[in-house]
Amino acid sequence: MAQLIGIGVGPGDPDLLTVKAVKAIQDADVIMCPASAEDRPSIALSVISSLIDKSKNQEIVKLIFPMTKDKDVLEAHWKTNAKIMAEKVLSGKNVVYLTVGDPYLYSTWIYMHRDISANYPDIKISVIPGIVSMFTFASKVGISIAEGAEKVAIIPSCYDLNSVKEIAKHSEVLVFLKDGRYFDKVIELLKESGFPGNSIFAIGQDLGTDHEIIRKMTLGEVNDGTLTTKYFSILVVKRV
Ligand SMILES: C[S@@+](CC[C@H](N)C(=O)[O-])C[C@H]1O[C@@H](n2cnc3c(N)ncnc32)[C@H](O)[C@@H]1O
Repeated sequence: MAQLIGIGVGPGDPDLLTVKAVKAIQDADVIMCPASAEDRPSIALSVISSLIDKSKNQEIVKLIFPMTKDKDVLEAHWKTNAKIMAEKVLSGKNVVYLTVGDPYLYSTWIYMHRDISANYPDIKISVIPGIVSMFTFASKVGISIAEGAEKVAIIPSCYDLNSVKEIAKHSEVLVFLKDGRYFDKVIELLKESGFPGNSIFAIGQDLGTDHEIIRKMTLGEVNDGTLTTKYFSILVVKRV
């Protein structure tokens, strides 16, 4: 029976795919992947491009998830994409859906899975986890995301940042994702929150690619603003 598999392809380095992900991708009839617009590349697809064996004639389908906060627009795209995915599986094809990092952290897969399990209950769905960007980053800069009794907050930077100062008071480690274009504001708020100046401050951009950037200093040393302007950026601050 055909099935749908959501696959985390890790942070960008093809060597950080799991063996299980590689096998599922190679066995798939159809490879689906997200892109923000028709003329934009799919980052998730680019990670696995070396695995595609042209002689197998696997169908590649790019699904459009626009970068918008408009709930109606988003929900319309989730519905359309879930339908495309479900119909392909119901036609007897084994479909994999690729997502950057892990499928259950800020991923389009979450909405696909929710819609398909609710509206197409006969479809068998499974998920293969992927290496999460923040852990890739931790291993590259050599900082622990949590140890002992430490509390960690994961914060998406592109939404309301009003709670950052309060969260900063109650956490030892703050991880900011989504997206680097908001990090100047985040840094300003962290400094205003009284987060200690000697805290470890690390920022990473385009991890796992050949244009990766990583910087590590203390929060007090950050004074030049605009350390990254890219969506694919991560910022970690940690009390020492
Ligand atoms: C939509 S979220 C997806 C998170 C992903 N599912 C994960 O497990 O890491 C996209 C955000 O993840 C972070 N991210 C994912 N991959 C990254 C990479 N290769 N380099 C830097 N940041 C990355 C960035 O903060 C980006 O804005």
